[in-house]
Amino acid sequence: CGIVGYIGNREAYPIIIKGLKRLEYRGYDSAGAMIFDEGELKLSKTKGKVSDLEERAEKEISLSGNIGMGHTRWATHGVPNDVNSHPHLSNSGNLAIIHNGIIENYEPLKKELIKRGYTFKSDTDTEVLVNLIEEVKKNEDVKLGKAVQIALNQVVGAYAICVFDKQRPDEIVVARLGSPLAIGIGKDEFFIASDASPFIEYTSNAIYLEDEEMAIVRKDKPLKVRKIKDDTLVDPYVQELQMNLEQIEKGGYDHFMLKEIYEQPNVIKDTYRGRLHANEGIIQMAGVEDNLEKFLNADRILIVACGTSWHAGLVAEYIFEEFTRIPVEVEYASEFRYRNPIINKGDVLIAISQSGETADTLAAIKLAKEKGAFVFGVCNVVGSSISRETHAGAYTHAGPEIGVASTKAFTTQITVLTMIALRLAKAKGTLSNSDFHRYLQELEVIPEKVTEALATNDVSKTIAEKFKDAPNCLYLGRGYNFPVALEGALKLKEISYIHAEGYPAAEMKHGPIALIDELMPVVVIAPKQGHYDKVVSNIQEIKSRSGKIIAVVTKGDVQVRELADYVIEVPDTSDALSPLLTTIPLQLLSYHIAVMRGCNVDQPRNLAKSVTVE
Ligand code: G6P
Repeated sequence: CGIVGYIGNREAYPIIIKGLKRLEYRGYDSAGAMIFDEGELKLSKTKGKVSDLEERAEKEISLSGNIGMGHTRWATHGVPNDVNSHPHLSNSGNLAIIHNGIIENYEPLKKELIKRGYTFKSDTDTEVLVNLIEEVKKNEDVKLGKAVQIALNQVVGAYAICVFDKQRPDEIVVARLGSPLAIGIGKDEFFIASDASPFIEYTSNAIYLEDEEMAIVRKDKPLKVRKIKDDTLVDPYVQELQMNLEQIEKGGYDHFMLKEIYEQPNVIKDTYRGRLHANEGIIQMAGVEDNLEKFLNADRILIVACGTSWHAGLVAEYIFEEFTRIPVEVEYASEFRYRNPIINKGDVLIAISQSGETADTLAAIKLAKEKGAFVFGVCNVVGSSISRETHAGAYTHAGPEIGVASTKAFTTQITVLTMIALRLAKAKGTLSNSDFHRYLQELEVIPEKVTEALATNDVSKTIAEKFKDAPNCLYLGRGYNFPVALEGALKLKEISYIHAEGYPAAEMKHGPIALIDELMPVVVIAPKQGHYDKVVSNIQEIKSRSGKIIAVVTKGDVQVRELADYVIEVPDTSDALSPLLTTIPLQLLSYHIAVMRGCNVDQPRNLAKSVTVE
């Protein structure tokens, strides 16, 4: 979910709506807003997108008022409908709340409140929380801030909340545990949001609440941040924001996803700038240099992540083991954290996360830290929870990724991880000098090759036209390109809703081959380096069963071209770096198929970009 709040002298409504649109990547199945005006709480909420809310709010509520808050939802408790949308009001109608997260013990709390005469309109855990706050306020005869604090100490779960009390209309109380919350500091005004994007045009100063912190935000008073547990005052760290408006706008592209696909040559350069010095044979990353011994002494490296980031982790497994000979295990963060994993002091855990907020990844990090492992983060969002929770890390510097389907985050994650592996290989002597230098040179020219790979856009579009109505699609790759097959299939699923599966090419004969017939498109990633001949044999097997073959090959390829129905050529590079190129046409292919099917590319149904619930 995404939350926005405003308190100051400007009209709150336009700030909230614009802010919610920027946060829609966080969830978009319902939306709502509250404006306080002339002693009244004005509320509008609806199933659907922020644009639906806009339409409705303009009819329903007075849009004038200098204090307000809004919410865009990704449903956890209760289906997405008008009633379950936020803000939620307390029974008296005095308190309003917006909430991102989950209250796990909502059931016993709800039962107790029902006993005390409370009634509930929605199925949400959030409505329980707002009534709990109301009950505390009444019983203890305390002001809103104190009531929120006492209530939160009874709550198990995760939250970022904004609470407003009609009887104290000059303040908004905010708190966080597990879900991000930023406060933008202006002159006599404050902006509250899940990330800084809603307020970057108003201020470049912000603080990010830490877990278990709360703040009472008053328009003309300095901000006071406290610990929820023991009420101690905290000195908040005011950050200078680095984001700019251009980065979060579409810049002439039809969709954010397409813009982000095309940004890859530049952002990969941004990722290695200042870190990779190919001519001098140097790779330097502060987070790695400062902890080199820990990496070099590692008994093994554990990689945890979710979604596309997990796929980058799989590519990294191949790269790390090949370059550094350190054993690597890659696991879904959600599985890792719940299975009593063996973690030793000598382990290094690398957590990969674009948003730096994924709840399962965050929990896996905390677990590994408790067990004494050294934890390193690879994040894109600067200042995110994961980047703060880890002992050290390296940012990907891809800039804001707004399309829900991850593209540039994936390739920049691979770039960072490749650089780490190369740095360790140099220190360990596990790569020959000549190989080390060759990889550095190759990595340096990858951005130009990505540009060439992007030139396959028209071919991808033609192929998309042919297969846009396919009900299923299979993606096959081997070695470094097996994770690329998984990622290609995920991209197609996510945005076009076509069922797709990625498989190691050789594993095809143990199951998926049964699906192949003349209607089945099979995307085979078959670059020249690597296990080319083996993949060619797999292609033969598909052909003998009349499958339709779309092959991603190295420029100038002859053999596969003869067998495949369609080929997409990418430039040549070494096997280990090939995922950075072979991924590109797969991103374009799914993009075009989704557009042709009339799908909402940037906001696919049911998904959210930043999953801050487990
Ligand atoms: C969601 C997004 C994916 C992303 C995954 C992990 O499912 O839709 O694109 O790969 O979360 O997110 P993270 O921010 O941790 O990389």
